[in-house]
Amino acid sequence: MKLNLTMILLFLGCLAVSAQDAQLIIHADQGKEQISKHIYGHFSEHLGRCIYGGIWVGPDSDIPNTDGYRNDVLEALKNLQIPNLRWPGGCFADEYHWMDGIGPREDRPRMVNTNWGGVVEDNSFGTHEFLNFCELIGTEPYLSMNVGSGSVEEMAKWVEYVNSDGDSPMANLRRENGREEPWNVKFIGVGNESWGCGGSMRPEYYADQYRQYATYCRDYGDNKLFKIASGASDYDFNWTKVLMERIGNRMHGLSLHYYTVKGWRGSKGSATDFDRDEYLFTIKKSMGIEPVLKKHISLMDYYDPEKNVDLMVDEWGTWFDVEPGTNPGFLYQQNTLRDAFVAGITLNIFNKYADRIKMANIAQIVNVLQAIILTDEEKMVLTPTYHVFEMYKVHQDAILLPSDITSSVDLEYDGEGLPVLNASSSKSEDGFINISLVNIHPDKDIELECSLRGADDVKSVTGQIITASDLNTHNTFDAPENVTLEAFDKAKVKNNVIKVTIPAKSVVLLRAK
Ligand code: AHR
Repeated sequence: MKLNLTMILLFLGCLAVSAQDAQLIIHADQGKEQISKHIYGHFSEHLGRCIYGGIWVGPDSDIPNTDGYRNDVLEALKNLQIPNLRWPGGCFADEYHWMDGIGPREDRPRMVNTNWGGVVEDNSFGTHEFLNFCELIGTEPYLSMNVGSGSVEEMAKWVEYVNSDGDSPMANLRRENGREEPWNVKFIGVGNESWGCGGSMRPEYYADQYRQYATYCRDYGDNKLFKIASGASDYDFNWTKVLMERIGNRMHGLSLHYYTVKGWRGSKGSATDFDRDEYLFTIKKSMGIEPVLKKHISLMDYYDPEKNVDLMVDEWGTWFDVEPGTNPGFLYQQNTLRDAFVAGITLNIFNKYADRIKMANIAQIVNVLQAIILTDEEKMVLTPTYHVFEMYKVHQDAILLPSDITSSVDLEYDGEGLPVLNASSSKSEDGFINISLVNIHPDKDIELECSLRGADDVKSVTGQIITASDLNTHNTFDAPENVTLEAFDKAKVKNNVIKVTIPAKSVVLLRAK
């Protein structure tokens, strides 16, 4: 065989690549799509100690608070620049009657929270408390409304109550309750999990219900509602198909729920005590969201090539057994470095589909499932997942940069190799190129070469890292800083090529300019 010049160059190129464990090529001049900041959204439900004890302690509490909201949680959330917050559920939303949660607190009726532990809900945290909280932390509210056990009238009136500026019955009622100006809520969810806890409906029936309910949710003034239909869970592609066919452009967003849960029956595994197989199961499942997204998106593309309907992954995250000794209905679980990896990988994947995914909400914000904050009476701790959101803030509203990653290292699990390094890149308004990376390998550092193709002359690169001694390291009320966000200065850049070793079991952010 005769060697020509191209073959020789290719051979030399391969040699250059093989000197590294992984190579990332970022097309810095090809960014088109903006990563919606709403992908970094959160979810708060009347579930366990999420609202009561987690966000709200009431104005008479000994726990330091501002108008009933705990100060430590307020500050932690302000720091995260949360773009939106979904409320009041979840399954709770389809049993919630908003009128029970307005007016003097002592007069509000009580109900039983049948979905979550059968506890008495006193409705002391209602519409005003939630929407004022959103204003305090500077986030956009997302109201998830009752289709399962509510009525068209009830939903229409709720929209009028929060958004009408005129001389209308609901606006006047709001004024009587102490709020002059409307809140101008944009995001409303028409039902939640309507195939399950939201009414056990068939998709054809829900599609008709959606059309009817949504008709009466009116725009007030300049505020245009963004109506979100209750979407599928995981692999229920037929739900997406039927809703796209039958609702089409009548919805602005279609939701999707995806948890890395092992199964709905039996043990879901411990949040803190897991072996290598369990670790890799969760990591594989978090990566498994990508083919699921692709399939839902391809159905949406078929019915809506213009991309008028956005995909909103308004529940996602890990779901393990509850912390031993806690109420099984409260879904309280600890949060380890493994959870940080799930968050990092999932957010990297959402960024990649920024042309269709416009919102996502991790479940849930405080004390429930993959919480970013845990509280115990007056104590509070930030979880490893909190630090991922803190680190990834730079991607909010940044321009997605297309990238290709190749790696010579895989982790063997279940007969296949899991890619050891997961990445996403964006360019933010301040001119920085942001590269978020997750090295899932428990003990191998990864030598990475990252080419910033088409970038202006890059002079410096800084970084941050989240790592710990063990995969199950977590923060406790007594040791709140076992996993934190630290500076990382190991990356070097020359001729627009970054060379860096990404430590085993870490999430890293590089910022280059
Ligand atoms: O996040 C907990 C629950 O999970 C939500 O209430 C429900 O929508 C989902 O099944």
